[in-house]
Amino acid sequence: MNSRDNSTPLQGRRILLGVSGGIAAYKSAELCRLLVKAGAELRVVMTDAALEFIRPLTFQALSGHPVASSLFDGNSDDAMEHIDLARWAELILIAPATADLLAKLAEGHADNLLLSTVLATRSPLAVAPAMNQQMWAAAATRESLLRLQHRGVLIWGPEAGEQACGDTGEGRMCEPADLLDDVRRHFEPGPLQGRRLLLTAGPTREAIDPVRFLSNRSSGKMGYALAEAARDAGAEVVLVSGPVCLPAPAGVTRIDAVSAEDMRRAVLEQLPETDIFIAAAAVADYRPAQPADQKIKKSADRLNLELIRTPDILAEVAGLAERPFCVGFAAETRDLEHYARGKLERKRLDMIAANRVDGEQGAFDNDDNELAVIWADGSIELPRQPKTRIARELIAIIADQFSRRPNDD
Ligand code: PMT
Repeated sequence: MNSRDNSTPLQGRRILLGVSGGIAAYKSAELCRLLVKAGAELRVVMTDAALEFIRPLTFQALSGHPVASSLFDGNSDDAMEHIDLARWAELILIAPATADLLAKLAEGHADNLLLSTVLATRSPLAVAPAMNQQMWAAAATRESLLRLQHRGVLIWGPEAGEQACGDTGEGRMCEPADLLDDVRRHFEPGPLQGRRLLLTAGPTREAIDPVRFLSNRSSGKMGYALAEAARDAGAEVVLVSGPVCLPAPAGVTRIDAVSAEDMRRAVLEQLPETDIFIAAAAVADYRPAQPADQKIKKSADRLNLELIRTPDILAEVAGLAERPFCVGFAAETRDLEHYARGKLERKRLDMIAANRVDGEQGAFDNDDNELAVIWADGSIELPRQPKTRIARELIAIIADQFSRRPNDD
């Protein structure tokens, strides 16, 4: 990347603003104005439906450039306009993005200029959804969003509130000033830019016989949210994952592991050059001493399973002479802080994030979590919130503490 003034991250940035046909299109005019004022170069592409809500002249006046809307309008000398726009843009932001547009994006349609430009670009795509709350909640919209998210599309909003149709609920497009902040954040170099971050997530499975195993209730949600947050903070992320049902986050290298021993091997292989190691996996502490080669038959009334300790991956990494900044998790059902501090000291960690794992509000397989984050000379409580959000806060704390460590280069 060329050198830029970080106080004006949007100066000279080439942004393509896509406008689809929703009532929120009027807010996009303000967004266009704010982006231009912040120094960005803007081109605007409107869908046919958007033209019903707002005239292109408005965007032309605000962006200082003619507005494109059709693949075949004959206004352009350039028959390959979508390719040129796709190559020109450093970011494509579609605001508003209607339910119809999201569905078409998810399906990969290319039957208008905006959609074909999106298909032809290698640049990041962000969407600011805007629709009726029921349409936002509809299963089809959820599926479209999930597919887009898995492809790394940035979803900014929507907000909840009163809607143009009279309903109240989630589906309002974010305010232009908030979207401007999102764009700014997108272009700001993250605090982990240039850093390599290795993390573990999910459960492990310890074989009893070829068809049975010992495991736990970890879903991987916490670790995967951390992987995404670290990626968004600019880190190169390697995720060593136990068996979970989550797709690999876009832009993250995922390495699959089944048992604690597999996970240890993968972590040690990936460790060279790692700056930060986060152990969010729920690694089994014990495994069957002698997994049976054949399925164990049901015969005796009692069956004793001898268990032996698994390797402690985190303690091993933290004990190395040349070690990364090590962050552990503590999963506790009581005396959270007491046990977490014990693990911080015993495993010689730089930081530990403690969560409760009992009861309805327990961290396992829940979308929300709350954390007590503890390090040698400080601590902070992160209140209950979605794992995606708490992960961002935790990554910001880790980046801050990492930058303060005495041997940081
Ligand atoms: O996956 P989710 O459903 O989203 O749930 C999230 C979570 C509860 C699994 C997560 O937030 C969490 O707490 N992960 C750590 C679970 C755990 O194993 O905690 P522990 O207190 O038993 O272990 C302490 C630390 O040592 C952990 O960082 C663990 O990854 C690590 N460890 C433990 C044992 C072992 N053999 N190797 C390890 O590296």
